[in-house]
Amino acid sequence: MDIRRTKIADAIKMTTYDVTVNVKGWVRTKRGNKNVSFIALNDGSTINNIQIVADADKFSDELLKDVTTGACLSVTGTLVKSMGAGQSVEIQASEILIYGKADPNEYPLQKKGHSFEYLREIAHLRPRTNTFGAVFRIRHNMAMAIHSFFHQKGFYYFHTPIITASDCEGAGQMFQVTTKNLYDLKKDESGSIIYDDDFFGKMASLTVSGQLEGELGATALGAIYTFGPTFRAENSNTPRHLAEFWMIEPEMAFYDIKDNMDIAEEFIKYCVKWALDNCMEDLEFLNKMIDKTLIERLKSVIDCEFVRLPYTEGIKILEDAVAKGHKFEFPVFWGCDLASEHERFLVEQHFKRPVILTDYPKEIKAFYMKQNEDGKTVRAMDVLFPTIGEIIGGSEREENYDKLLKRIQELNIPMKDMWWYLDTRKFGSCPHSGFGLGFERLLLFVTGMQNIRDVIPFPRTPKTAEF
Ligand code: 4AD
Ligand code: MG
Repeated sequence: MDIRRTKIADAIKMTTYDVTVNVKGWVRTKRGNKNVSFIALNDGSTINNIQIVADADKFSDELLKDVTTGACLSVTGTLVKSMGAGQSVEIQASEILIYGKADPNEYPLQKKGHSFEYLREIAHLRPRTNTFGAVFRIRHNMAMAIHSFFHQKGFYYFHTPIITASDCEGAGQMFQVTTKNLYDLKKDESGSIIYDDDFFGKMASLTVSGQLEGELGATALGAIYTFGPTFRAENSNTPRHLAEFWMIEPEMAFYDIKDNMDIAEEFIKYCVKWALDNCMEDLEFLNKMIDKTLIERLKSVIDCEFVRLPYTEGIKILEDAVAKGHKFEFPVFWGCDLASEHERFLVEQHFKRPVILTDYPKEIKAFYMKQNEDGKTVRAMDVLFPTIGEIIGGSEREENYDKLLKRIQELNIPMKDMWWYLDTRKFGSCPHSGFGLGFERLLLFVTGMQNIRDVIPFPRTPKTAEF
């Protein structure tokens, strides 16, 4: 019998019984006795499995023997109201076709409760677990939320290059792109590599941020956003850093730092609300299995107003805490780059809600940020979140040609890479602002997962590029 496949997400919601349906998916578990087998089947369309009831007298022992955890089946049968607890419908199977077997002696996802460390080693199969199915469905939904938010606000999705010759953040953490034979590099007398005959004729790298090109878009189209992969060769083995991560970077002409904070706050709340509106089954699963306070925390972020505080005030609060005996691993002083323990102290212990910290010392921020009148600070803003620390980094941009040029020179940024960026300040310069949201950091917050390696399908970190 050839009937159309029904997705399991739709099948389990059906209320017309005794109809013939076909479902396809992977076996999660099989239990039963010599008269009947109960097979839990999942096809990724939902966290829920559908129960297949296979009577022993309808199927050969050989066939049922091959229905093991991980095997892929096509099942046709009658959809009936379930007698058992835990599901409303089940399928009384009349036909079972095995697309692919999974040898129980070899299939690595046998028992429940594998550690996340182990599952990272089998990242090619972990999307088949309940937790990673939930995480990756939420990941998709957050991408949809992001496009929906900006589209609805009249922003244009602007594609900035992945390969670039400029270092936006100026931190020297770029991966080089070359077609040269690395064992036989042409060098000048001083030993520097000559790139003339390399693919791009100059040193090229993977981008750390689409911002600089994003500014070119914003100063023409008014408001744009990028959403793409970015790369950082920083050797940070932490639960919050990846070498390849996705970033959303809106950039808006005529926005000052206050407008920038307003839209950043509205944007994050929109994404979190989208998750609560569209991913409740997966969130309930994660709330039960991973983090019992997850849903409560998501709701609380939507309802609260973020604190807005200058860096200098933040440092005072942290110094006060130290004076009262609070121990941090890293020292706190005006001018220091905040560690995530400091950020989390402000958010989780002091204010108990998200904090937007502004006006950082210029020495610890990038060259493009608008300089304040005090000569010491820049109009930066970092959005700090519970459990995560920094989730967004952004600023109002320096739109004054002379000030920007001076800063570029002070920092020894090669001018030959920056002439086109400076042109925006030379021709029709305008006040503008933007920020970058780390997509995986947002996902850490929304899923309650603890490690950034567990919210991206195939994480890239120092010494790992498997799959
Ligand atoms: O603060 P960052 O470095 O800012 C920029 O790149 C700016 N150009 C953004 C802009 O204004 N358009 O990075 C922005 C965000 C961080 O707040 C963090 O969420 C995330 O990107 N991020 C990382 N996420 C995962 N792994 C890493 N190694 C990350 N580095 C930054
Ligand atoms: Mg930052």
